[in-house]
Amino acid sequence: MQLKKKTPFSPKKLLFVILDGVGYTPKGPEFGNAIAGANLPFLNKLWKESPTILLKAHGTAVGMPSDEDMGNSEVGHNVLGCGRIFDQGAKLVNNSIAEGLLFEGKAWKEIVENTKTKNSTLHLIGLFSDGNVHAHIDHTKSLIQAAVGEKVPRIRLHILLDGRDVPEKSALDYLNPFEEWLTSLRSKGADVKIASGGGRMTITMDRYEADWSMVERGWKIHVHGEGRTFPDAKTAIETFRKEDPAVIDQYLPSFVVEESGNPVGKILNGDSVVFTNFRGDRAIEISQAFTQKSFDKFDRGNFPDVCYAGMMQYDGDLQLPERFLVSPPAIDRTLGEYMAKSGINQYALSETQKYGHVTFFWNGNRSGKFDSKSEEYKEIPSDVIPFDQTPEMKAQAITAELEKVLGENHSDFYRINFPNGDMVGHTGNYQATVKAMEFLDGCMGRLAEACRKNNVILLVSADHGNADEMYQLDKKGNVEKDKEGKPVPKTSHTLNPVPFSVLDPENKIQLRTDLQNPGLANVAATILDIMGYETPEGYHPSLVAR
Ligand code: 3PG
Ligand code: CO
Repeated sequence: MQLKKKTPFSPKKLLFVILDGVGYTPKGPEFGNAIAGANLPFLNKLWKESPTILLKAHGTAVGMPSDEDMGNSEVGHNVLGCGRIFDQGAKLVNNSIAEGLLFEGKAWKEIVENTKTKNSTLHLIGLFSDGNVHAHIDHTKSLIQAAVGEKVPRIRLHILLDGRDVPEKSALDYLNPFEEWLTSLRSKGADVKIASGGGRMTITMDRYEADWSMVERGWKIHVHGEGRTFPDAKTAIETFRKEDPAVIDQYLPSFVVEESGNPVGKILNGDSVVFTNFRGDRAIEISQAFTQKSFDKFDRGNFPDVCYAGMMQYDGDLQLPERFLVSPPAIDRTLGEYMAKSGINQYALSETQKYGHVTFFWNGNRSGKFDSKSEEYKEIPSDVIPFDQTPEMKAQAITAELEKVLGENHSDFYRINFPNGDMVGHTGNYQATVKAMEFLDGCMGRLAEACRKNNVILLVSADHGNADEMYQLDKKGNVEKDKEGKPVPKTSHTLNPVPFSVLDPENKIQLRTDLQNPGLANVAATILDIMGYETPEGYHPSLVAR
């Protein structure tokens, strides 16, 4: 598996910068476009004067079920890193459920059998919304429906409230109809209840080991039923909102549902547990906590021996978890693998929050390296803090590190991710996102200079939009207002395309304008083309004009 050199072969070094969550819309700051509202001398000049085109970064261009689906970092980095579009988790789970394959599979059968032979409980833990980034509530409902049909003795739900991939205070929009549905199931004899829950940024869904205490809090709530108790989830959410009207769903505290003084759904020896998220980054740590015999991240207390399954396998290298309901996309022949096998040195860098994006996601959801000699991965520890309090995040440290390695002529291909547009964007704080963008602009100016000095070609793009739309827009495209007439903040990603720009110190590269629907899948071949290599079979074509 070797890359073919172009003839004549004139190898070039390249830096690819992913400005996470920096999409494009012609709408101005009055629509919550924090990029348009920021003072960006470097980026605006780049987008205006250097070859720049827009790439589709959502929906079918990244393997999602439909063009109603926004892009996200997993699917975006997968596609960027493999030059092709694979059906992604959201779509694979939909199909597997629709065709009934999920319920015929060995994993589901074991989960169900286990509860029936032991007269034990099936627990479903997962993100509770239709965001379709990590999970979809319809998948959870399908599992419940099937479990009820198969006469699983008891079903308990542990719901992670979203407000990050969906509107920031939408938890009850999902919960109320769901509770009604559960009541109707109970009236037909099913024993199914919500047992615990909390905001997804408070419990359980940490990623890249940024903050294990989140997982520990989730563990206590879900497994041991230790936490603040309420008669039901709705009362919990309403109480939290009364106590802190500013709190948004992703940060809601955690709760345990109790009846007659006892938690309704502790996780006990012999139970079955399914983690219903299909996306891996925020599912790996909790899966480790449930499945690893020796575990030192926190004290699990009485550790229940359960039959555990993930909706998908989250990490192919670690085989985590071993039992899973739907097979993940088989992303092969990635750019990273081709480079590793063709003698091209690679360097990947980000801070913790996006470190796995430029390694794990980039390499088709593999946590290992293809070749440790030619690949170097560097992580700069992220702060554990809501990022609107530090919109600069670790951009300065990332920039300084990169200036250093570029100066040392360290590698052939450098890839980095600046999380600011996305991570600050997810807080819903417009002003902080403007600041994040302005800070990034300065960093990008420095990187462009370092590239020029070291004769490295710079590509700048993004994985999906976020900072480009910080206000919730209605169906007609108007800004939604709250009771006080203030714009309703938007915390989720957008459906907008992303700019793709080239800064070539020699000014020789031009981009094609004749491609029908250029998207993220065209980037991998573009990188190779510029570096001097032919497009591998099946990759979407390069964007470089001939
Ligand atoms: C998150 O996990 O933070 C969001 O759901 C998605 O953000 P990302 O796709 O940019 O990581
Ligand atoms: Co994001």
